[in-house]
Amino acid sequence: MAILDKDATVKDIIDLGRKEMGEMADVSDATGQFRNLLLEQLNRVLRMEQAEGKKDFTRLPKIRIGVCPGDGIGPAISEQAVRVLEHLLEAELRTGRIELVMIDGLTLERRLETMEAVPADVLKKIKTCDVLLKGPTTTPKGGSLESANVMLRKQLDLYANVRPVQLPEEGIDWIFFRENTEGEYALGSQGIELPGKLAVDFKVTTDLGTRRIARAAYEYAAANGKTNIEIVTKANIMKKTDGNFSRICHEVAMDYPDLKLEDWYIDIMTAKLLDKTRRSDFQVFVLPNLYGDIITDEAAEIQGGVGTAGSANLGDEYAMFEAIHGSATRMIEDGRGAYANPASLIKASAMLLRHIGFSDRADKLEKALEEVANGPEKVVLTGHEDGATGEQFTDALLARL
Ligand code: IPM
Ligand code: MG
Repeated sequence: MAILDKDATVKDIIDLGRKEMGEMADVSDATGQFRNLLLEQLNRVLRMEQAEGKKDFTRLPKIRIGVCPGDGIGPAISEQAVRVLEHLLEAELRTGRIELVMIDGLTLERRLETMEAVPADVLKKIKTCDVLLKGPTTTPKGGSLESANVMLRKQLDLYANVRPVQLPEEGIDWIFFRENTEGEYALGSQGIELPGKLAVDFKVTTDLGTRRIARAAYEYAAANGKTNIEIVTKANIMKKTDGNFSRICHEVAMDYPDLKLEDWYIDIMTAKLLDKTRRSDFQVFVLPNLYGDIITDEAAEIQGGVGTAGSANLGDEYAMFEAIHGSATRMIEDGRGAYANPASLIKASAMLLRHIGFSDRADKLEKALEEVANGPEKVVLTGHEDGATGEQFTDALLARL
């Protein structure tokens, strides 16, 4: 209740009353919106509860690989990644066991035209595929248009964002299991605002959503001979969401007594990634969405730059593979698209191959990629005319395969 001073006129009193009634109406609108958001999220929990088992991507009789080139440098680097896939999957493409499906229309222009994060016709085509290779897409800042990445992760329920980072000369072999459908991202474009006064965004952690990412990380660790797992949150501050995330990870950990669990807060972990005496001890990380987003850029930078890292978005029914960097539209504006580095998307293609059961070819591709990018006869891309083009890089790579 505001206080009026003793000289207040009748008009002042009426104005104040109107203002307070307006505010009350805004608050009650906002409360209604909040209620709807909670119901929506409960619905999502229900869908998770009803989810049918996991599809075994390594045993599909036929596999459809969708390719969405995306924006900015996306089409240029996708073209190179597709050349690599066509080469490595030549036999299967010939017999029709594997099909490469080019999907147009996941561009910023189309998205602005339809005002859909992923235009409905594009989403429909994507859903006819099993796995997707996706070039970077531009995410507008502010406004209400959701990022295409985020929308696809949610729509296809790609809950595990798996990002490996390696620096062999330092003994670094990390793999990040970033929760990919919840946290600050779940309702990122559905915050509530009392215009000119305040804004609230939401962070969502569900029990099932946390359990499945923790399980994915632990299963990976157990199957790959790892010895420890780092759980990274900010549970001292985000008591409910991160608090639950941490607690549920501990519960899942009880099924894996041979794996040592270490608890971290995100701030100190970002520092520890720079600690050369400690960082090579880390193996597997599990963390909520936004922390995972931030720390994997840091980790990729340690590996040699965000242009060097690939990313797998895994769900039970679909999987999507992408670079971890953005669309670098500036390079296109400057006419340097041909010089964009396709390594990250090619690395993502190796992850794709492994996911659909071609581990040998994935290993071969990763080895060749390492040689072309870092070996004695490396092909250096600078992003400018003084470096190689993406096509030259890929030519050298194909020559080794
Ligand atoms: C990533 C990207 C995305 C994210 C953007 C493009 C929405 O930074 O994949 O890490 O924030 O997740
Ligand atoms: Mg990111």
